[in-house]
Amino acid sequence: MKETINFIKTKIKSIPKIGIILGSGLGDFATNLTDTVELNYKDIPNFPQSTVKGHDGKLIFGKIKDKYIVVMKGRIHFYEGYDIKDVVFPVKILSKIGVKKLIVTNAAGGLNTDFNPGDLMLIEDHINLAGKNPLIGPNDESDGPRFLDMTNCYDKDLIEKSQKIANELDQKLQKGIYMYFSGPSYETAAEVRMARILGADAVGMSTVPEVIVARHRGIKVLGISTITNMGTGVLDKPLDHAEVVEVGKEVSDKFTKLLTNIIEVI
Ligand code: HPA
Repeated sequence: MKETINFIKTKIKSIPKIGIILGSGLGDFATNLTDTVELNYKDIPNFPQSTVKGHDGKLIFGKIKDKYIVVMKGRIHFYEGYDIKDVVFPVKILSKIGVKKLIVTNAAGGLNTDFNPGDLMLIEDHINLAGKNPLIGPNDESDGPRFLDMTNCYDKDLIEKSQKIANELDQKLQKGIYMYFSGPSYETAAEVRMARILGADAVGMSTVPEVIVARHRGIKVLGISTITNMGTGVLDKPLDHAEVVEVGKEVSDKFTKLLTNIIEVI
């Protein structure tokens, strides 16, 4: 980690206080940054590589609305074959660099029948169905507590601020519970029915490991899902990753507008 942090620190102009992880198809947001420093994951010592289509693999530092932020364009997923520790390595690095607030975004399947593909959803809480917890193993108390309290995991104040901004922009913003499956196969229709019974509004294959580690480090978290499709069996229609990326691109404008305005006030 020291080597990674030293490398990054020699490249950046200022310390970013806000970090953003961009999910599938949401990478376009990064084009709005100015004064950028772009680091390819492959050029950063010890950094894991993203292998998924729609995930570029760049750490981009830059300014938006006069705030210096860092954007992860492309994330690492457990289903790519990485150890869960590698999945969360970038968040540990962002924390050590000085990030205090993390906006985590993803593409997700909608389960709540009030939702439609193209909706944005504020994550109110999650259910970790993948059975993987990145805090398993020895704990360094200087990083965070052994037994992490998950109250207010998705920061209520950030949720309220985001909702207010969406209202001002006249944007519809859904709220709900995100259930994490490991993937990479999509859920079966039976799993989707189970997820709905257990209280989930959306399902996806990311986010939860990063959020747990961010909270462990005391970082405040805001989570936003793009509902790119309805979960398996909700509609009589097969699922396709190309569609997930495509819907991500279609919502790019409203997603960017919302995110930019949120960054301004937090
Ligand atoms: N399930 C899991 N992950 C997803 C989905 C889905 O339906 N859509 C986008 N990511």
